[in-house]
Amino acid sequence: DSKTPLWMRLNSGFRSKFKIQNSKFKIFKIMRKKIVAGNWKMNTTPAEGLELVKNVIAQSEAVCECVNFIVCPPFTHLSQVAEAAKGSRVAVGAQNCAAEAKGAYTGEVSAEMIAALGVKYVILGHSERREYYGETSETLNKKMAQAYANGLTPIYCVGERLEEREAERHFEVVKAQLEEVVYNLTAEQFAKLVIAYEPVWAIGTGKTATAEQAEEIHAYIRSVLAEKFGEAAENTAILYGGSCKPSNAEEIFAKANVDGGLIGGAALKAEDFIAIGKGF
Ligand code: PGA
Repeated sequence: DSKTPLWMRLNSGFRSKFKIQNSKFKIFKIMRKKIVAGNWKMNTTPAEGLELVKNVIAQSEAVCECVNFIVCPPFTHLSQVAEAAKGSRVAVGAQNCAAEAKGAYTGEVSAEMIAALGVKYVILGHSERREYYGETSETLNKKMAQAYANGLTPIYCVGERLEEREAERHFEVVKAQLEEVVYNLTAEQFAKLVIAYEPVWAIGTGKTATAEQAEEIHAYIRSVLAEKFGEAAENTAILYGGSCKPSNAEEIFAKANVDGGLIGGAALKAEDFIAIGKGF
């Protein structure tokens, strides 16, 4: 009313506008999947992996149904782990797939072989693959195509190295990793994609990005995706990875643009992995 001082009317107007925006983001956030994915890397024997997935399944009962758990074991026991996880709430992913469909590619495992096991996800573009196995955007485009052709959902990883962060080039690096690969997807493919932001300097180092650093770049990633795919980018799950553990998951997951985590070391202990799931 007119008796209310102008500054108060303006102030409350601003606040209510902010609220509407907030609740709008909330609605979007609810539409996004909450995901806690475990990247076991080159760890666990088949017996250990089987034991680990069984413990994860048993303990997952204590976590909100809204959290989607994924475990990504090595190829040697992908089949056994997928079998053990059948009918449970824990989905299974591979850590990599071949760039080609089939043929004379010694040592490679195709997306078709992986999908035949009932596996639903595949991690692609992990920084360790880029760094140690020379994976480039060119290879990754082929791997993404193979994944989609066989009904696998890629968890596409992006992230800058320490020297790139120090030179303040992290936005530019991540943008290029998205443009060179994700921009080549169709809208239909993009709708299934999961992204993982993993700063290389935080992987396995015990050094985590702060929740603010994660939110800043996750929001940026979403804006880069929106430039190409529009509003669909609001539904993309963007996971944080890099020394994520029970003690820091809650703070990081609380951020508006963080939809879960890709967990390395802490995924090797069922209690820790499950505790991270409770961070939502
Ligand atoms: P970390 O690994 O949790 O051990 O840092 C994460 C990853 O590389 O996916």
